[in-house]
Amino acid sequence: MKHFKKILISAGPTREKIDPVRFITNRSSGKMGYALAEAASSIADETVLVSGPVNLDVPANVRCINVESAAEMARAMLDEADNADLIIMCAAVADYRPKFVHENKMKKSDGDLTLVLERTEDILKSLGAAKKTNQILAGFAAETNDILQNAKSKLERKNLDFIIANDVSSSSSGGFGKDQNAVTIIDRSGRMEVFELCSKKELAEQIIEYIVSF
Ligand code: C5P
Repeated sequence: MKHFKKILISAGPTREKIDPVRFITNRSSGKMGYALAEAASSIADETVLVSGPVNLDVPANVRCINVESAAEMARAMLDEADNADLIIMCAAVADYRPKFVHENKMKKSDGDLTLVLERTEDILKSLGAAKKTNQILAGFAAETNDILQNAKSKLERKNLDFIIANDVSSSSSGGFGKDQNAVTIIDRSGRMEVFELCSKKELAEQIIEYIVSF
């Protein structure tokens, strides 16, 4: 089996501050990314996990960098990416953050409140734009509809080698916050491989094995 010098994986949600006590986040548990890091650690000299706030133990032999916001995750991922030969972006990064972060706790008033949100950096797209030869880049596409079509266009737009598409619609039995997941991996040539519903730990081993054997 191919050996990797450094595998870099992101996991979990991000938190985007509104004020000192409030933030915007999402339902990502980090389980898929942590399972990927555990599977990766058996085939890499060094495994680095960049993690948003989650309630999980860091797997053995994995170096974890804890971050909160999308901006912090971007900084850590771009710093660590330089000498990584495989990068998997599994984190559920916020697409928007509050444009103004209030220094003090916001007071309520009787009327409605409008929050102005601005786009965050697309970390995966930046990693794709800076991708080196011999660097393999994979991303996730959590979709609720037109799953494969949306995933394929993401693969091209972000200059990826693999896109791992998962159905996170309420009718699916895997995905966000769950212990199980099912995915379809699409590569640059358009080849598709389906991985049936199983535990995230088993699935992570299959995903790493598939990418490594490519
Ligand atoms: O475009 P979309 O958000 O659906 O793409 C999902 C992929 O892009 C995931 O791998 C996610 O980690 C990554 N992403 C990112 N930065 C963002 C938003 C998503 O790296 N701001």
